Amino acid sequence: MTSRNRFESKSVIVTGAGSGIGRETALAFSREGAQVTVADINQTAAQETVSAIEAEGGAARVSVVDVANAASVELMVEGAVDAYGRIDVLHNNAYWAPLNRSAVDTTEEEWDQALAVTLKSVWLGCKYAIPHMVKDGGGAIVNTASTAAFIAGPSFAAYIAAKGGVVALTRSVAYDFGKQGIRCNGVAPGLIETPATVDVFNDPARVGPIRAHQLLGRHGQPGEIADAVLFVASEDSAYMTGQTIVLDGGRLAG
Ligand SMILES: NC(=O)c1ccc[n+]([C@@H]2O[C@H](COP(=O)([O-])OP(=O)(O)OC[C@H]3O[C@@H](n4cnc5c(N)ncnc54)[C@H](O)[C@@H]3O)[C@@H](O)[C@H]2O)c1
Repeated sequence: MTSRNRFESKSVIVTGAGSGIGRETALAFSREGAQVTVADINQTAAQETVSAIEAEGGAARVSVVDVANAASVELMVEGAVDAYGRIDVLHNNAYWAPLNRSAVDTTEEEWDQALAVTLKSVWLGCKYAIPHMVKDGGGAIVNTASTAAFIAGPSFAAYIAAKGGVVALTRSVAYDFGKQGIRCNGVAPGLIETPATVDVFNDPARVGPIRAHQLLGRHGQPGEIADAVLFVASEDSAYMTGQTIVLDGGRLAG
């Protein structure tokens, strides 16, 4: 347990919180006192995260959401306001994209779905949460980007395009709403060990080039990204907005 309490009684929404980075982030917010809306399309997975939070004595609730659907995201936001009175932090983290698809191989359906779940979702979260945050005096938005926004990898065209969009949208939201008390920042993980990356770790052609450039000689853990999410969501980064910080073991530096 942490000795810090930066989110005491704050209302925090984490999307994609049923797994991987989102689950660790939801747990980390709870350990610092937050009331967490655990939002995911997978109800069973979201309930597992809520149960883990409750087992530690924290407060959390499930929100079953399709982040690609406007009505569903609006319900997620309104449900958090109904339950906890306000929204202090929104962590847009859910994603989907097809692996092993170059720009030529990607189907129109895959492109539309990847952009909807990975990029449109970030816009929708901002669209519905910001008016509440502004009304209640401000808030922090944290978008999960990726090193893929800054450096390409093999055959991952829709994902790379969507994450580039997330970094740009983060700046746009920061620009438009800074004076109304909204900070909007991103975190860009490198290769992190989660259920999403099992196939990457099992494919030497994919993992080899990444490993060769990890200056710390290892991949990352979800908790290491959660630590950064809490930093950019907290008053510890009160003068930071429009930025995306990279946590990649040195991949982009080397
Ligand atoms: N794992 C990595 O190496 C890595 C690297 C860079 C960036 N990221 C980013 O981190 C974030 C989390 O990735 P992860 O590795 O924890 O993934 P994950 O697969 O472990 O978790 C993703 C979660 O999103 C949920 N989800 C999928 N579609 C959804 C939808 N339409 N609506 C609501 N929820 C939906 C899934 O049910 C799942 O619980 C993503 O934005 C990803 O792009 C991950």
